[in-house]
Amino acid sequence: MAVLDHISSQEAMALENKYGAQNYHPLPVVLSRGEGVYVWDVEGKQYYDFLSAYSSVNQGHCHPKIVEALTKQSQTLTLTSRAFYNDMLGKYEKYVTEYFGFDKVLPINTGAEAVETALKVCRKWAYEVKGIDTNKAKIIVCKNNFHGRTTTIISFSNDPVARKNFGPFTDGFIKIEYDNLQALEDTLESSSDIAGFLVEPIQGEAGVYVPSEGYLAKAKALCEKYNVLFIADEVQTGIARTGRMLAVDHENVKPDILVLGKALSGGIYPVSAVLANNEIMSVIRPGNHGSTYGGNPVAAAVAMAALDVVKDEQLTENAERLGILFRAEINKYIEESNIVNLVRGKGLLNAIVINDDEDSDTAWNICLALRDNGLLAKPTHGNIIRFAPPLVMTEAQLLDCVSIITETLKKFEN
Ligand SMILES: Cc1ncc(COP(=O)(O)O)c(C=O)c1O
Repeated sequence: MAVLDHISSQEAMALENKYGAQNYHPLPVVLSRGEGVYVWDVEGKQYYDFLSAYSSVNQGHCHPKIVEALTKQSQTLTLTSRAFYNDMLGKYEKYVTEYFGFDKVLPINTGAEAVETALKVCRKWAYEVKGIDTNKAKIIVCKNNFHGRTTTIISFSNDPVARKNFGPFTDGFIKIEYDNLQALEDTLESSSDIAGFLVEPIQGEAGVYVPSEGYLAKAKALCEKYNVLFIADEVQTGIARTGRMLAVDHENVKPDILVLGKALSGGIYPVSAVLANNEIMSVIRPGNHGSTYGGNPVAAAVAMAALDVVKDEQLTENAERLGILFRAEINKYIEESNIVNLVRGKGLLNAIVINDDEDSDTAWNICLALRDNGLLAKPTHGNIIRFAPPLVMTEAQLLDCVSIITETLKKFEN
């Protein structure tokens, strides 16, 4: 069979099951096309995408301006490695640092790599600027975090499935309760060897946990008090998703280190970045860190186009407005519902909590029924379903989605 031959959903799933490592459990739907807020399966059925590749496709599927940047650049120069300069990287570095208000960027490819980069920058800063003794630096992280899948990152995960039989793990992390300022202050006070505090402004994978109002601002103030770097992992929450350009903007917090990925390219190409000011980023010298593809010309062109679209199309404002509407509509439904306990989130990063056991398959079955009704979403953990559509959605489309969701949920009421 030639690779481009048309195949059915059943055939496509059978191929993945036979030849692919089974490291995911996808919802059974095989997609072959996307445009804006919609995707189509190989049989031609249309769906609303209510996941956006885990908040990557904020600008909508196959956004023509981003595709054009990709096409143009990929016909001109694609990869030089950082052995040489190229004529796109500097332009992108100027653009992205001005866009987010930092002195410097370290360009890399995936979210996990960007988190790894931030951890390395933080540790080096701890030894060379803060003056912590060699190999003593510790970074505070939060319980139920999700920062990616590398060996170091899973070292401070508390998800048994992500960790089991992948040890030995990397040392140097202290795990505290999320949204607990006392725990943060106690830990900061307990040792002078703390280098950083790594935090998701909203815990996405854990089930869209929004911390108490003021948590991020107070945590940042505590980090300043103890001369510890505040590292915001905005891989999922950043780039307009929560109704602000960054989720930390809700509390006017400027992180010391900002980690971005996913929507930085609008889902068109793997692009991630770590941003910081000179006093932090200047600890990185030639040979300390890098990646062959990091900062390649295609990534640079795509990211600039993707960030342009966010501003040109006012996606931040749209996410804020539609998010308020979405939660209001779902809350109306919840008043009469036995199957949904609550909806929570900010902007267009939301989740509903299903009234059933954590290990029940109700949320999965609801997602199958949503699929049948033309909307794609996926449970995060157990009984929680995340809703994160592309931010280019219109109000009419959002209300159409609300009615698909509520009509589907009604079938599960007891
Ligand atoms: C907050 C956060 N950080 C890091 C990552 C890892 O990104 P990637 O899957 O691109 O490695 C994710 C992915 O979901 C994430 O949500």
